[in-house]
Amino acid sequence: MAQCIVLGVTGGIAAYKSVEVVSRLRKKGYTVRVIMTRSATEFVTPLTFETLSGEPVVSDMFARPEKWEVEHIALAKAADLFLIAPATANIMAKLACGIADDMLSTTALATKAPILLAPAMNTGMWTAPATRKNLMTLRERGVMTVGPEGGFLACGDSGEGRMSEPVDIVEAAEKILARKQDLAGVRVMVTAGGTREYMDPVRYLGNESSGKMGFALAEAAMARGAVVTLVRGAVTAEIPQVTEEISVVSTEDLYQAVLHNAAQQDIIIQAAAPADYRFAVRFPEKFKKKDGEPLVFTLVENQDIAQAVGAQKGERQVLIGFAAETTDLKAHAREKLMRKNLDMIVANDVTAPGAGFNVDTNIVSLITENGEEDLPLMTKRALADQILDRAMAIYQKKTGQ
Ligand code: PMT
Repeated sequence: MAQCIVLGVTGGIAAYKSVEVVSRLRKKGYTVRVIMTRSATEFVTPLTFETLSGEPVVSDMFARPEKWEVEHIALAKAADLFLIAPATANIMAKLACGIADDMLSTTALATKAPILLAPAMNTGMWTAPATRKNLMTLRERGVMTVGPEGGFLACGDSGEGRMSEPVDIVEAAEKILARKQDLAGVRVMVTAGGTREYMDPVRYLGNESSGKMGFALAEAAMARGAVVTLVRGAVTAEIPQVTEEISVVSTEDLYQAVLHNAAQQDIIIQAAAPADYRFAVRFPEKFKKKDGEPLVFTLVENQDIAQAVGAQKGERQVLIGFAAETTDLKAHAREKLMRKNLDMIVANDVTAPGAGFNVDTNIVSLITENGEEDLPLMTKRALADQILDRAMAIYQKKTGQ
């Protein structure tokens, strides 16, 4: 049976683009059921959507109140994906508060399907504190968004707020439909990127971590329905959309953020590359050259975050670390697995071509107390799913789920 997308159309000029969304989804073989708000019908007629979807369109204007109960539950259940495009500031506010005062908001409240919003509004409305807060609330509940884009807006302003193009909305919808939701509700914390230890306000000790490995894990966990906390240091890769993002600078910051959030997590994966040392003295002003004199610094050891989390790990928690090595890969990785009380370590020979820092691929071995598995070269995104598969298996064993 074809997958069913319930498309909510709210009242904005971008509603005309949703006609193309329906057409593209139908061509790909999806069943599309359209619900229009009263104001949406001012922009596009229900007949247009009815003709393109080949299904009756439900709109507030024509829905009979006594049928709502049946109809909204039926549509809520039928949805494999609940897409709202365009999503106005108004519908976002209603969804955030659980208001159910028309067919669309009622059905959205009742559905258990993943919800994808394609926001479209004036830049001022998009950046308004109320909308930001509503967006945050919705994201915390797992609601996903595509766009909006920057550009010229119908109101004559220019800025962020344009609804994404139909082709991008359809692509985002398809990605969600293809996902397994096996991590639904599981709380996952991922660390990513490198830390920086400042010597003075402008110079630091750091490393080449781009964040790509950690971001791939965060993205994959989000795609599988997890509630994801991403703690990231300095990065160069694009930061994915997650439930909660915490930005840190030094290893001490990373330590504080991870320890503060560790107890609430089911799975913790530490892909970050924290600096093991910091400067014993940090100069408050830019350090001046001393002609010809050698410069000698003392470095002191930072705390080991994974080891600290491992020491207080709960019985139901899963802790996974990485080992970035240049020699004796598996021996060093095994030693870290045991010392840090990890459930699994991802052994990463960072000298191998296509592996390690700042590339899109990786080559690793997954090592547990009882076994090891050598994986071939693959994208960090594909590896992320492999790591999550193992993490979930350990989690299910620990929790008996
Ligand atoms: O970000 P990318 O460019 O994609 O690069 C990915 C990566 C190479 C950074 C990643 O794949 C990786 O290997 N991350 C671990 C880097 C590292 O710090 O390895 P380590 O062997 O020094 O540390 C072992 C484990 O302890 C790691 O999980 C690390 O996060 C953790 N650690 C290390 C030091 C410290 N003070 N506290 C820690 O918790």
